[in-house]
Amino acid sequence: MNFHVLTLFPDMIRQGLHTSVTGRALDRGLIHLNTVNIRDYSKDKHKHVDDTPYGGGAGMVMQPEPIWLAYEELTCGMQDKPRLIYVTPQGKTFTQSMAEEFAACRDLIFLCGHYEGVDERILEEIVTDYVSIGDYVLTGGELPAMVMIDAVSRLIPGVLNNQESAEFESFQDNLLEHPHYTRPVEFHGRKVPDVLLSGHHANIDRWRRQQSLKRTLERRRDLLNTARLTREDLMYLDSLGWKEHNKDE
Ligand code: ADE
Repeated sequence: MNFHVLTLFPDMIRQGLHTSVTGRALDRGLIHLNTVNIRDYSKDKHKHVDDTPYGGGAGMVMQPEPIWLAYEELTCGMQDKPRLIYVTPQGKTFTQSMAEEFAACRDLIFLCGHYEGVDERILEEIVTDYVSIGDYVLTGGELPAMVMIDAVSRLIPGVLNNQESAEFESFQDNLLEHPHYTRPVEFHGRKVPDVLLSGHHANIDRWRRQQSLKRTLERRRDLLNTARLTREDLMYLDSLGWKEHNKDE
């Protein structure tokens, strides 16, 4: 899997991703990162890459030509037209299923905007996906690109070790995870739930499932509409008043 990032801040991307799990995956060659500094493609003697907006208004707009030249050089050796993700708050919200779709690509290109935006004409020409990481505005596209690269990387075989993959399994069914505890048995007067100390695996499994359901109901009730629920789950949720909540919506 090859990640390419067109950016004005390549160091930020490199430093962020050469850390922790993605850093380990890069060192092992399981994923590749290619940062392209858009400024290197400016023909301006001062290496400017932005200019004032036609029609007036505040802020600066990134010019199309340096981005085009960077894109052209990057893609000229690629067989198929690669997916190019423009990270923008105006895009579709990034989800786990998008991460899965992107993880099937050989090459993924991210374009990180800055200033007030990017000249529309270059976007029309090269962008295949407009993607946001949420309804808030950041100063640039680098953090969103890193968020997406992290989420896609952990789906690449070998990137997570066995323990990390096992943790992933427990996120299945569209439910939030149950709470976790480790030593000591008592901390600041708070005790680990007795069931977890009982050694009774069936009871522990049932308790964890119920905690997942309760937590999802309390924190992300919207997820329950698409969660895979058994008859026993539904009975437990009913006992917590889920049906009544639903009727109120
Ligand atoms: N650029 C600035 N804010 C952003 C966001 N929320 N998502 C993606 N790209 C962005």
